[in-house]
Order: sequence, then structure tokens, then C-alpha cells
Amino acid sequence: MLSIRNLYKHFGNLIAVNNLSLTVDPGETVVIMGPSGCGKSTTIRTINRLIEPDSGSVIFDGVDITNLGEDELRSMRKRIGYVFQHFNLINRLSAVENIMLGLVMSGQSKEEAYDKAMAAMTKVGLEHLQDQKPGELSGGQQQRVGIARALAFEPELMLWDEPTASLDPMLVREVLVVMEELAKYRAATMVVVTHEIAFALHVADRIVLMEKGTIVESGIPNQVFVNPASHVGRQYKELIEYQLSTSARTLAGNRVA
Ligand SMILES: Nc1ncnc2c1ncn2[C@@H]1O[C@H](COP(=O)(O)OP(=O)(O)O)[C@@H](O)[C@H]1O
Ligand SMILES: [Mg+2]
Repeated sequence: MLSIRNLYKHFGNLIAVNNLSLTVDPGETVVIMGPSGCGKSTTIRTINRLIEPDSGSVIFDGVDITNLGEDELRSMRKRIGYVFQHFNLINRLSAVENIMLGLVMSGQSKEEAYDKAMAAMTKVGLEHLQDQKPGELSGGQQQRVGIARALAFEPELMLWDEPTASLDPMLVREVLVVMEELAKYRAATMVVVTHEIAFALHVADRIVLMEKGTIVESGIPNQVFVNPASHVGRQYKELIEYQLSTSARTLAGNRVA
């Protein structure tokens, strides 16, 4: 479905993505993790050429996206949904209008766009809030509108770049729940950049760990987090063990007290 081959991207002297290759199967949910600055966003943004790679190929459904002309790229992008860390909603438009905008701009009638937008709003559980402006919604609800905006195109591939990173911790869960539902029904193939370890453990078919612009380890969650082969993998394992043991000790202590 998606095959990234020998991808490179430099910014001046800095190599942000260094000979990265990754294949994602149809319906698969791949979670990319790694320390800040290791090249996760650059990698995910080169897939639909929000960032132009220096070299390498991105084959999607048999087509090399890096070779497409402007018009072909535009139609290709309709097949690839993208959810940003910052939701980038338009404040003067209602939730449903935010979702309709891209559909209408790509040539659909208002009626058709409205129906698709409402179907997408329903998928994220927000159909009752269609007329609210972004400012009247919580951060979690705004991000769910952002997700619905991507879903409305019925994408074959969904790219997520830290979709919960700018949310208040209390609002993270509602967004993860929506993501988990989408992954479960395999409506789209998903490539997710996130720091949410519990989500990765529970939802990922495969976890890909990056360091310094390249993939250092990849495998099922139980392998990567239980028996890691890389430095980054061992750091995640220690973090999980710390979180589990401190939670367990605290809960046990509270019970005694
Ligand atoms: N537009 C840019 N100009 C210069 N350097 C950049 C640019 N975008 C990213 N970088 C650098 O490339 C590296 C990888 O960045 P990024 O892909 O955003 O990492 P991550 O998403 O894993 O935190 C970082 O060192 C970052 O500072
Ligand atoms: Mg990033």
C-alpha cells in the first residue's frame, strides 16, 4: 500500500531523514515513536510532500508520489488524510462548514459536501455540535473536527502527527478513543506519530522507533517494548516499567493507608 524507500532530507548541514525505508500494509496501523527532533514529522510530511524530500521514493498504491506533477499531487492528496498537532480550524466557520470547505473546494456540490461532512462528524461523535464555532468547542472536540475533516474525503491512508500533543491531558483520551475506533475498523491504513505509549501498545499493529533520522527498530508492541533491540527501545521499556511500578506501588500504598 505504502512503501517509502531510501528517503533523505537535509536542512542545511542537518540530516533530518537519513536513508529511511518503511513499508506499510493495507489496513495496518503503524505507530512511529522516537525522541523529539529525530525526524518523525519530516518523514510523515514527505509522504504527501508537505515537505519535498531530497531523494528517495514514496510509492502509494503503485504510484511514486515524489514524481507527480501539481495536478496529480492534488488528486493524490485527497486519498491521503492528514491530522495535525494544531487543528488549524477556521474560527468564523461552524464545525460542519470547516469540514465542508475542502470538499466544496475540490468540486463537490454543497449538498453532497454537507452529507459527507455530517457522516464524518457522526464518526467522531460530534453530529450534535455541527453548528458550533471552533471557539465554542473544547480542544478535544476541535481535534475531533480536525479528524472529521480528514475523514470526510474517505482517505485510504491517514497520517497523524502528534494529534494529542497540544491538548490538555484530560482531553487526550477522547481523541485517542476516536483514533482507536478508526484503527479497529481498518477504515484506512494509518501512520501515527505519537508519544502516547498506552495507545501504541494497545492499538499499533507495528511500532517503528526512530533515532537521528532513521529507523532503529520495528516490530509488534510486545517485541519492541518487552524485548527491545535498540537504545531507544530500551528507554521506552524502562519508562513503561517505571510508570507501571510507581502506579502499582502508589495504589498499593493507598490501599494500606
Ligand atoms: N524547516 C526546517 N528547517 C530547518 N530544520 C528543520 C526544519 N524542520 C525540521 N528541522 C530539523 O530537523 C530535525 C527533525 O525534525 P522533525 O522531523 O520535526 O523531528 P520530530 O518530529 O521527530 O521532533 C530536527 O533537528 C529539526 O530541528
Ligand atoms: Mg514532530
